[in-house]
Amino acid sequence: MSTGFKIPAHLRALPQLPGVEFERCVMDAFRTAIAQLIAEALPELTTEQVLEAVDYGKKDEDFTVHLGRFRLPGKLDVHNQKVLSKMGLPPFHPLHHTMNRLVLDQVYTLTHATPSGQAEYGSNTSGQGKRVIIEYSSPNIAKQFHVGHLRSTIIGGFLANLYKACGWEVISMNYLGDWGTQFGLIAVGFNKYGSREELEKDAIKHLFEVYVKINADAAKDPSVKVDAAAFFKRMEDGDETALADWRMWRELSVKKYEEDYARLNVHFDVYTGESQVGKESQNEALARLEQMGLIEDTDGAKLVNLEEYKLARAVVRKKDGTSIYLTRDIGGAMERYEKYKFDKMLYVISTQQDLHLMELPWADRIEHINYGLVLGMSTRKGTVVFLDDIIREAGSVTHEHMRKNEDKYQNIKEPEVVSQEVGISGIKVQDMTAKRINSYTFNWDRVLSAEGDTGPYLQYAHVRISSITRNNPELLPLPPTSEIKTELLTEPPKHESSEVTTFAFRLSHAISQAWMPIKVKGEPDLEKARARMWMYLRAKDVLASAMRLLTLRPVDYM
Ligand code: ARG
Repeated sequence: MSTGFKIPAHLRALPQLPGVEFERCVMDAFRTAIAQLIAEALPELTTEQVLEAVDYGKKDEDFTVHLGRFRLPGKLDVHNQKVLSKMGLPPFHPLHHTMNRLVLDQVYTLTHATPSGQAEYGSNTSGQGKRVIIEYSSPNIAKQFHVGHLRSTIIGGFLANLYKACGWEVISMNYLGDWGTQFGLIAVGFNKYGSREELEKDAIKHLFEVYVKINADAAKDPSVKVDAAAFFKRMEDGDETALADWRMWRELSVKKYEEDYARLNVHFDVYTGESQVGKESQNEALARLEQMGLIEDTDGAKLVNLEEYKLARAVVRKKDGTSIYLTRDIGGAMERYEKYKFDKMLYVISTQQDLHLMELPWADRIEHINYGLVLGMSTRKGTVVFLDDIIREAGSVTHEHMRKNEDKYQNIKEPEVVSQEVGISGIKVQDMTAKRINSYTFNWDRVLSAEGDTGPYLQYAHVRISSITRNNPELLPLPPTSEIKTELLTEPPKHESSEVTTFAFRLSHAISQAWMPIKVKGEPDLEKARARMWMYLRAKDVLASAMRLLTLRPVDYM
């Protein structure tokens, strides 16, 4: 009998060892994955051997592995360490998503894991064999990471997960603002105000400070801009001495961003940026615009005239021959297509750069994902907000809030980690509750509130159910579903009909939202039509059950 559990894609490729049936017992899938990983770290053992030593439900941990029993030559500690470093190393093993934390003690290598495969309910294979590039976040080095970037990061992270769940190959791409005249300014500013030490500490903040100071100087002294332009020209010409510092700024900024993104549970496969777009593709972009009759020459500079498309006139190449944003952007898109042959590319950016204009054969594969503004986001002190500050503040307000309940607080194993996670949930859910296109006013109270449609509310619901296994270890491991006596699930009802009506309303909303875009009648692909009909009939079952519970008799016509 199958449990109906869908094996997550990343576990499907696991070896089928004797005596193991993933469909029947999903825990075996996790045990196999852990065993495989350990066998990779310790080549003297086979996956099959290790599997014997992977238990679950013991010692208040999800999984325990007793490596001592293998009596490997050498120190147990060394073996444990090998396993841990294997598990922790990027690029993350698929299990990364399921592992919460690894703990090491003398005898056991303990892995706390959550069989989060369930989270993959609702996945499908419709995108199999297709590749999507999702460009999101894309902050500018030495300028502020503002709330617009934060929104792009949150939405992009969601879209990456969504496409993955539909079987697509997803490339998460960060297109940094890492090129342009402002780097000439920073070079001048860094000579005056820069500090290597500050840079190592927090490159993002330090470069921003330098940028602010030198901008103020430039407002008073015109020679600053002249020096800056000269410096940037050297960078464009590939002068290595001019590029060395810039490389370091970029590298240290990316390093810092990676840390911040990791805390947001967002990951990029590619860090590219304006600097990475080659001269040739920029020329090609320019040539194409010229062919299309969109270019005007003004006083040595080249302008693209998009007035016909209700867009502005924009410079695409400056008088001194240096490149600019728009040309790089179009050239960059061409390079991406050359390199990745994507089936789709999403730009999660707030202002539209309409590349459809290019009349390239693949232009219809590009989609612009726009979004509204976040208003009023700053720390409680009202200071300038860096990504880092927002993340920290989310953690600290949540931590303070948690502390107010002494008893509960005592029971939280790692309050810093937990408050950080819950706080970030609060920010993300607030962002994703409103429709993408709507602007919203950010509110710290909603980050904290466990009532209403908030992040903490979702986390709290999840926490409660998680505590069931913690508090009832004697019931574990559970037998397969077929052996569970579901007829015993007849608890006295809670006398609250509104909960059922609320649920039924939610489901009805979902049905009516699906109704127009997901049609059954008129869908020419009959297999697809059947899949859709199946989906609607399942929804009908659930809705009808809820209605009957409410004493209604579901009607078939009205
Ligand atoms: N760096 C830009 C900004 O901060 C966003 C980049 C968007 N991506 C693009 N391909 N134009 O505004």
